Amino acid sequence: MYQHHFPAVYNNKQRHFFDNASTTQYCTTAIETTSMLDNLPRSNITRGIYKEAEIISEYYEQARQTIAKLIGAKAHEIIFCRGTTEALNISARCLTENLKKNQAVLITDAEHHSNFLPWIELCKQKNLQLYRLPVDTNGAIDLSQLTNFEDKNIAILSITHCSNVTGVISDISLIKKWCIRNNIILVVDGAQMIQHDIPNVSNLDADVYCFSGHKVFASSGIGVLYAKEKLLEKWQPIMWGGGMVLDMPMLNSSELDNSWLKIPQKFEAGTPPYQQAIILSHTLKWLASLDQQALHKHHQSLLKKTNTLLQKYSFIDIIHHSNLPRHPIFAFNIHHLHPHDAAHLFNELGFCLRAGHHCAKPLMKSLHIHACLRISLSCYNTLEELDLFEDALKTIYQHSQKFLTC
Ligand code: ALA
Repeated sequence: MYQHHFPAVYNNKQRHFFDNASTTQYCTTAIETTSMLDNLPRSNITRGIYKEAEIISEYYEQARQTIAKLIGAKAHEIIFCRGTTEALNISARCLTENLKKNQAVLITDAEHHSNFLPWIELCKQKNLQLYRLPVDTNGAIDLSQLTNFEDKNIAILSITHCSNVTGVISDISLIKKWCIRNNIILVVDGAQMIQHDIPNVSNLDADVYCFSGHKVFASSGIGVLYAKEKLLEKWQPIMWGGGMVLDMPMLNSSELDNSWLKIPQKFEAGTPPYQQAIILSHTLKWLASLDQQALHKHHQSLLKKTNTLLQKYSFIDIIHHSNLPRHPIFAFNIHHLHPHDAAHLFNELGFCLRAGHHCAKPLMKSLHIHACLRISLSCYNTLEELDLFEDALKTIYQHSQKFLTC
């Protein structure tokens, strides 16, 4: 249904890419935009007053406007950076900058390391308390525990929109209400959400929202840091260089603070990944032009079929069981088979699956496992591929049994 938009999928029917939480395949729009840009005369953005420089600068700012419109933000609230990890690092650094020693940050045990490590490091540097909202026995973030943190002087809550291990979607609306009641800034890691559902940051009322291009059919090396204007205005730049300064006080460093360009340029020192930003904007525009209801229905049918399939076999331990809203990401283990061995065997049979801790070691610890297999499906995956996957799964299990009895 969607495969024809993805040449690497369409032309490789013998391979089945089930690792879309890790990265996604390029869509035709991304490929065509790359080619269009590669064929343009090259010029840097904003620095030249000749025609070529003006054209590419216009494309770049148009990309910012397009993305802003698609996610319900203002153009100057979009900061281009390298990806979700960089966006979370910038947010963590800027948001903790002026916190007082008695203030705290709250994250959850379901976070990817990228939404864990920056906060650990910054809290250590600033002597701030870091709390973790636990997960339930299924690995889903336990929002009922939020009330336990109301007397902890939490200033920031940083949470994933969709778990990269369980696929569970966080109830941002409920979380935001709690944040408003407790005067807490809400940071959302949208890395796993973006390919399934383009967020509307105004409706979500997230203070900060981060995502990457390579997880939504565009290039790597590009990401978006959205933050509310009032925050960005307050934040100090964390990188300094060309393109972000209005004036250059030669020796008097105390004058520097007044010299930054306005947002967003204040946060984009140096030559930004402008080609990748343009590719991302075209890709998101294409994605948004698809029938969103049909797309959602397809994701849900992949979800339902995978769920049914995995539940059929008693030799499978499914990591997450619940009826919470989720995207088609499944973590599981096969009895008596190490996930890395299983992933290796799946590869032999044409399936790309990730195995390991999925950069979510705290979640693994909460679930009392070291590692697991993961299937993460995208719009170009099909129900037929799941039939083939079921055959592969049975073959692998039979193979592992033989090995056990040798
Ligand atoms: N965050 C990516 C994953 O979950 C790399 O696989």
